Amino acid sequence: MRTTVGIVGAGPAGLLLARLLHRAGIDAVVLESRDRAYVEQRQRAGVLEQGTVDVLRAAGAGERMDREGLRHDGVELRWAGRRHRIDLAGLTGGRSVMVYAQTEVCKDLIALQLAEGGPLLFEARALAVEDADTERPRVRFRHRGAEEVLECDYVVGCDGFRGVTRRAVPAALAQVFERTYPFGWLGVLADAPPAHDELVYAGHDRGFALASMRSPSVSRLYLQVPAGTDAAAWSDDALWAELERRFETADGAVPARGPITQKSVTPMRSWVHEPMRYGRLHLAGDAAHIVPPTGAKGLNLAVGDVVTFARALVHRRETGSDALLTSYSPTCLRRVWQAERFSADLTALLHRAPDATPFELRLQRARRERIASCRAAAADLAEGYTGFPF
Ligand code: FAD
Ligand code: DHB
Repeated sequence: MRTTVGIVGAGPAGLLLARLLHRAGIDAVVLESRDRAYVEQRQRAGVLEQGTVDVLRAAGAGERMDREGLRHDGVELRWAGRRHRIDLAGLTGGRSVMVYAQTEVCKDLIALQLAEGGPLLFEARALAVEDADTERPRVRFRHRGAEEVLECDYVVGCDGFRGVTRRAVPAALAQVFERTYPFGWLGVLADAPPAHDELVYAGHDRGFALASMRSPSVSRLYLQVPAGTDAAAWSDDALWAELERRFETADGAVPARGPITQKSVTPMRSWVHEPMRYGRLHLAGDAAHIVPPTGAKGLNLAVGDVVTFARALVHRRETGSDALLTSYSPTCLRRVWQAERFSADLTALLHRAPDATPFELRLQRARRERIASCRAAAADLAEGYTGFPF
C-alpha cells in the first residue's frame, strides 16, 4: 500500500490530521491497532480550548459539538470551604472553553473519515517505522493476521504514550524530560446531574477533586488517590462520601448522588520527548508529550501539533519550501512547554502532595490567595486555561 501521509493511531490527533489533510486534498492512510468501539468509548478528555473548537468547526467537524457541547465562560476553584470563580471570558477578552467529550470528538471524526476520507484501518497494529530519515519512510503493520507495509512520503506518529513510532528516533538523538507524581486520579462516570453549571476544581486538605460533566444528566468526577490505587477497592458509597467531603462549602452544596457506571484510575505524569521530528517521521500528541490532566491540555496539545503539521505540508505544496516541516519540532515544543508549565503549576496549586512540608503547604495557600485576590494572577490562569495560540 502506498500513500502520501501514513498516520499511525486514530485517537484525536490521528483522526483530526486525517480530516485536515483530506480537506487540503492530500491523501493519507490511518492505521489503528484497536477496534472502532474501543476508540469511540475510551473515556478521557472533556474540555476543548477555544482554538480547538475553532479548528474543529473550520474542518467541518463542529456541527454536533455546536449542538450538544456546553460552552463555559468560567470555572470555579474551591478551597477552605469557599468558591472562587475564574471569569474566563471576562479575563481573556471573550475566550471560553467547550465541554464536549473526547469520545464524541472521535465519533464525529471517524464518521466523517469513513464517509468522505481515505482509508482508516481498525485492528491494524503498526510494528515499526523504517527508513524514517529517507524520502521513502515505511510503516510495517499487522492487519487481519498478515504483515503488510505502508509506503509513505511522510509518517506521523499519533500512537499515544504506549505507541511504537518514536522508537524510530535514534536513542542518541532523543532526550526525555519527565516528572512522575505520587498520586493519580480516580475518574468516575455517574448518572447524576452535574453539581454545578461550571466545572469545579477543589483543593481540599484530603486531596484534589474535580466535578465535570458529560451532559445535563451525566456527571464526570475525579478524586486524587495515591499512585497504584485499585479503582475496584473504592465502593460507590465510599466514593460519594469522599466527593462530598472534598467539595464541601460553607453554603453546604454537595454533588447529587446517582448510579456510578464507570470507574478507573489514571496515573499522572509530565513527560516530553524531544525532538518531535526525525527525518520524515513527525510525532504528534501523546506520542510526544504527556501532561497531568489538571489543566485539561492533552487533547488540545494534540490538536495544535497536527494543525502545525498540516499547515507545514500545505506550505510545502504551495511554495516548494520545507521550512515549516523542518521547524515542526521547535514550533510545537514552544507550545508544549507552555502547557507543561501550566499543567504542572495547576497540579501543584490544587493537589495535596503526600510529602509536602509545612513550608510548602503555606506557599500553596499563599498562591491560592494570590489567585483569589489579584486580577492579574487570575487572568494568567484564565489565559492558560483557555489555551495558548496554535
Ligand atoms: P491517544 O488518544 O492515546 O490515541 C492514540 C491511538 O493510537 C489510540 O487509539 C491507540 O489505540 C493507537 N495506537 C497505539 N499504538 C498503536 C500502534 N502500534 N499501531 C496503531 N495504533 C496504535 N486532555 C484535554 O485536552 N482535556 C481534558 O479534559 C483531558 N482530560 C483527561 C482526563 C483523563 C482521565 C485522561 C487519561 C486524559 C485526559 N486528557 C485530557 C488527555 C487526552 O485524553 C490525551 O492527551 C489525548 O487522548 C491524546 O490524543 P492522541 O491522539 O495523541 O493519543
Ligand atoms: C475533564 C478532565 C480534565 O482533566 C479536566 O481538567 C477537566 C475536565 C473531563 O473529563 O471532563
